[in-house]
Amino acid sequence: MQDFLAEIEDRRSRALKGGGQKRIDVQHKKGKLTARERLDALLDPGSFEEYDVFVEHRCTDFGMADQRIPGDGVVTGHGYINGQLVFVFSQDFTVFGGSLSESHAEKICKVMDRAMRVGAPVIGLNDSGGARIQEGVASLAGYAEVFQRNVLASGVVPQISVIMGPCAGGAVYSPAMTDFIFMVNNSSYMFVTGPDVVKTVTQESVSHEELGGATTHTTRSSVADLAFENDVEALNQVRRFIDFLPGSNRLKAPVRETSDPLDRSDESLDSLIPDSSTTPYDMGDLIRRIVDERDFFELQHDFAKNIIVGFGRIAGATVGVVANQPSVLAGCLDINASRKAARFVRFCDCFNIPILTFVDVPGFLPGTAQEHGGIIKHGAKLLFAFAEATVPKVTIITRKAYGGAYDVMSSKHLRGDVNFAWPGAEIAVMGSKGAVEIIFRDELDDSEKIKSREKDYRDRFATPLIAGSRGFIDDIILPRHTRTKIADALAMLENKQLENPWKKHSNIPL
Ligand code: HXC
Repeated sequence: MQDFLAEIEDRRSRALKGGGQKRIDVQHKKGKLTARERLDALLDPGSFEEYDVFVEHRCTDFGMADQRIPGDGVVTGHGYINGQLVFVFSQDFTVFGGSLSESHAEKICKVMDRAMRVGAPVIGLNDSGGARIQEGVASLAGYAEVFQRNVLASGVVPQISVIMGPCAGGAVYSPAMTDFIFMVNNSSYMFVTGPDVVKTVTQESVSHEELGGATTHTTRSSVADLAFENDVEALNQVRRFIDFLPGSNRLKAPVRETSDPLDRSDESLDSLIPDSSTTPYDMGDLIRRIVDERDFFELQHDFAKNIIVGFGRIAGATVGVVANQPSVLAGCLDINASRKAARFVRFCDCFNIPILTFVDVPGFLPGTAQEHGGIIKHGAKLLFAFAEATVPKVTIITRKAYGGAYDVMSSKHLRGDVNFAWPGAEIAVMGSKGAVEIIFRDELDDSEKIKSREKDYRDRFATPLIAGSRGFIDDIILPRHTRTKIADALAMLENKQLENPWKKHSNIPL
């Protein structure tokens, strides 16, 4: 028995050493932590419970029978982040380059199955050379098993991918189907085909970083939500992020103690909007002044900057914030902004997170690039997402709400629960200049007359009163009272019940 216990301990300690000190040193030299060090940084101290430390691959080809490392290149289990249960897998690049064997995939699947059964998020730390080349189709089958679970878990438990090394080929599709992707600058990359294949097929020369590094994916492709400087920063931010999320679609997000009073009135908001309706201001600043303790976790801040999405809290409870950003493209909705916000709205709706929408939108961005790029279908995504959402929806029109974009941005007509406007709000089909140029086309030569027509139009339509008189907004509120009004609305909506008609699933314009 003593010998047997010693053998168990020997295997366990071999698993802890991964691919050995030399490979660990290489990992460190690249500025990366090992799989286990990453879990230590991610989880509450001492909370990690590991599974399947004795699992080994079953491959006997290419000399693999002699190369078995307990754990087989992925560390899996559960632990806690600020007391909240999470399931984790962390690929170990020091073991066969973190490549995915059949057994490695089975370990990930076990974690995902448990997370689904228990109702807790799955966090995957990805650092892998892809399919275990020696295993061939068994490895591909393993990937497909993970993909299938990604899809079934979507909307049931939050899934977060942190890319901390290579992630290439079909392997990218597991993170792609999770809810959020975070990357690490200069040490992570994601692409379907690497620089060599690109060179062969298209004759383009491109570096790993340019093809699929963190900057590319957070600024151009929007595949990733955020990029961080190094492993430690990324993992710290995941800890902060997970605090905003519920464990599953049956639970509410954890409520955090706050010392920020709900009746905090902020007079500076009264003068935040410039006098001229074409002068920009920073919507991000406005959001921070309203949420608890100015704590706002913004996602995708380097992509489609004309719309802001992220999580904050009101009265300690998580809210998803969607807001037009007037300082970029005047806050117009375009293809990228619509896609970005639609996916975020759908996440909030899946996970019972109320949606707070700040509106200052002059309309959809005009142009052939937008029309030919399919703004009709992409814009419809955001409209669809807001219309489909049944979570509490509170909307504040801070300035412009023009045209179709007014309808889209969580308007009353899309089952917005509580819709407020600030006194300077302009809720109309379009801006006064554009409107007058169409209605009074014959008078365009007479600039005085046009000016007075514009003033008439502005006085009559560029106001929240007409929408107010129809009940399309519930109240016109002073900016300084916004936080309190939102808090009251969310408290009133806490037990909101609303269900969409039964269906297998909807058919959002993809
Ligand atoms: C088995 C692998 C491996 C893999 C790396 N290794 N990738 N072993 N299968 N896919 C091993 C290496 O042999 C090496 O072993 C160790 O991991 C570290 O790899 P290095 O090449 O020394 O590291 P580095 O120079 O940092 O390069 C990393 C890398 C490179 C860019 C990821 O290893 C690489 O190109 N690997 C192959 C990538 C690939 O083609 N994968 C298949 C993609 S197709 P030793 O013993 O020397 O330490 C795919 C399909 C998925 O994934 C489909 C899903 C539907």
